[in-house]
Amino acid sequence: KPVPCEKHFLHLDDFTKEEIMELVERASSEKKRLQSGDRSFQPFKGKTMAMIFAKQSLRTRVSFETGFKLLGGSAIYLGPDDISIGKREATKDIARVISRYNDIVMARLYEHSQIEELAAYSSVPIVNGLTDYNHPCQILADALTIYECLGRLEGVKVVYVGDGNNIVHSWLNLAAVVPFHFVCVCPEEYTPDEKTLQKARDAGLSTIEISHDPVEGVKGADVIYSDVWASMGQKDEAEQRKKDFQGYQVNGKMMARTPNAIFMHCLPAERGLECDDEVMEADYSVVFQQAENRMHAQNAVMLKMLNC
Ligand code: CP
Ligand code: NVA
Repeated sequence: KPVPCEKHFLHLDDFTKEEIMELVERASSEKKRLQSGDRSFQPFKGKTMAMIFAKQSLRTRVSFETGFKLLGGSAIYLGPDDISIGKREATKDIARVISRYNDIVMARLYEHSQIEELAAYSSVPIVNGLTDYNHPCQILADALTIYECLGRLEGVKVVYVGDGNNIVHSWLNLAAVVPFHFVCVCPEEYTPDEKTLQKARDAGLSTIEISHDPVEGVKGADVIYSDVWASMGQKDEAEQRKKDFQGYQVNGKMMARTPNAIFMHCLPAERGLECDDEVMEADYSVVFQQAENRMHAQNAVMLKMLNC
């Protein structure tokens, strides 16, 4: 009888600073190898990955599938209507079935408790490709991008402007294990999860601030980070949120207050809402480098999970 696996990638603060930095270094070296055209490293040959998607995706779907294949494996995509996770059968049953066919499982889900349930019952590693609560692969890729652009991660001042959402929770999880300065500039009704915030503060490593002032809050930033105002699952609140987030758009005027900062966005972006064309297309924008780094960061995660 297969035993439950204890090695998963669900939250960044499940790992130590050394492990996170090792992942960043590994992502960087595997990126160089792939960019050189070298395809001889095929550690996933004979291995399969199942990818469960309850939500839409461009980057996560394509970067996981391509990354796994480039390293020799094959991946199967299960879209929202294929296995209907949470509706057709118990999640713990899906976990035990799917992990008997595959070496690793990636999942993008709504409820965070569902990915924790998958992990509790799976006999192979589960990788979190976003839940309503967090998005660790994204922030690991962003850490790599910051490392590439600024030469360091420790001590950098990252100012996130917008909704205190899943992206913010992963930034806070990272701040619990790697020391940097994180500011979340958000309207009062859109602050991040209190427990996650407290846990990051209790770790005592990073400077963590919540600001409701989009003018003062961005000052001194090395990175200005933006994300949609209405996440997947909240699209019916989009009109209300447009009103609530007035003044929180990252545009040229805001970037001018922090002249040396780079602009980051996890994408997809709603140009004209949380950010504008000017910042997306500016020389200081690294949004496509971030998107590219998703694949390299995730390759490093899968290599670690599969002991390669
Ligand atoms: N950033 C990100 O996860 O993009 P997708 O929703 O397209 O996967
Ligand atoms: N906060 C966004 C991130 C998308 C990658 C969402 O959950 O839709």
